[in-house]
Amino acid sequence: KVKPSDIPLIIQSCRRGVLGKEYKTPLVSKVVKKGPLLEENFIPGSVLRETIKRDKDSILEDIEKSNLRGRGGAGFPTGFKWRLAKEEKKDKKFIVCNADEGEPGTFKDRYILHKNFQRVLEGMSIAAYVIGASKGFIYLRGEYTYIRETLEKEIEKRRRAGLLGNETEKGLNFDIEIRMGAGAYICGEETALIESLEGKRGEPRNKPPYPVDTGFMNYPTLVNNVETFLNVNLICEKGVESFGQYGTDSSKGTKFFSISGDCKNEGIYELPFGVTIDKVVALAEGKDIKAVQIGGAAGECVQKNDFSKRIAFEAASTGGSIILFNENRDMLDIAENFMEFFVEESCGQCTPCREGTYRILEGIRLLKKGKCSVTYLNKLLELCETVELASKCGLGQLSTVAFRSIVENFKEEILGRLPEEV
Ligand code: NAI
Ligand code: SF4
Repeated sequence: KVKPSDIPLIIQSCRRGVLGKEYKTPLVSKVVKKGPLLEENFIPGSVLRETIKRDKDSILEDIEKSNLRGRGGAGFPTGFKWRLAKEEKKDKKFIVCNADEGEPGTFKDRYILHKNFQRVLEGMSIAAYVIGASKGFIYLRGEYTYIRETLEKEIEKRRRAGLLGNETEKGLNFDIEIRMGAGAYICGEETALIESLEGKRGEPRNKPPYPVDTGFMNYPTLVNNVETFLNVNLICEKGVESFGQYGTDSSKGTKFFSISGDCKNEGIYELPFGVTIDKVVALAEGKDIKAVQIGGAAGECVQKNDFSKRIAFEAASTGGSIILFNENRDMLDIAENFMEFFVEESCGQCTPCREGTYRILEGIRLLKKGKCSVTYLNKLLELCETVELASKCGLGQLSTVAFRSIVENFKEEILGRLPEEV
């Protein structure tokens, strides 16, 4: 069993880290548990064996009834995605566990892989049983190569127990392979991930078609996040009602958050959806916090007066990343850091994203130097709109959210830096 102390320190934010520094912490500096997911005592096969005694449709109905929504960030209804994949009539189908979390400030899947990996594997097997898939991939973030061996051993353990492979129990012929990412943020985008799995350059495809019908090698492919599979296992074990006792009407259950930045208690938190930002700041013991970044570089930067906002898909939404910034931070440093990240990570396939992010970064630098007029700032905001509307995938479409929210929510700080109109 891997102990936190055995694990090397790694850069857990983005490759550049928060505010230009390498941002290193151990696997877990603090774990806060306010829900059922963090239970660690789990007997491999205990849920799978019981679940596959049931009719596939009734399992699917449970996942639908639970209103489980995808935990990678977008919050798409999991049951609906499974139904679409199940209804496809093809001789081959695939399952992909997206373990390529790359959002700055997101490191919750790393924790789950260490602590609850057997439950994740079990969630994948249940999905395979329901939709009729025979092969699964775990696409593991390149920076997590150091845990690959441990994960391989856990997979092998399941093969030996007859829970994976060709001779598994009742109607289940399913095996899992780990494939490594190579450090590209864009490969967390599901279609770029699939391209990469196929051995090609990791570039997003047009959607639709969606992977549920045209995925890996053009076969129906169900892509879910690590935490989503963990939740599936829990719903099958404890039932829909137990799952639904946490969260809000539109965001059921609990969520893993990775909390970092200017606070005493950086770490992994399992909290019910609907928790307020205030509460998170208090739990993390953030002092003099003026801004909270919800959803990493692609998310909104919320200011102090709005800390009563709830964290949920229908309010302040995040795939897990929460970064706290205190009064000493320059908001333009933050905007610059995030935009540099997008410039570096853009796959370059489409012009609005490739050129637009670069131009916005130039503008932010002018703002920092006090050389950006109001007219220029307004042009930059128009450019943001173009990049959002014309980019092909989520990276470009969301690349401007942090900058725009900083301009909107920290107007005084930003406008105070502008010179008289020139
Ligand atoms: P999306 O909304 O396009 O899709 C979400 C999921 O629903 C996908 O699996 C997609 O295939 C499926 N889907 C959507 N409409 C469908 C339809 N009509 N039929 C069948 N399937 C359908 O969002 P996307 O681009 O996949 O993800 C964006 C999110 O990812 C953002 O919220 C962002 O915050 C998050 N993200 C998370 C990262 C992380 O490290 N966890 C990194 C980067 C982004
Ligand atoms: Fe690539 Fe950016 Fe276009 Fe996405 S929006 S396909 S990352 S260039």
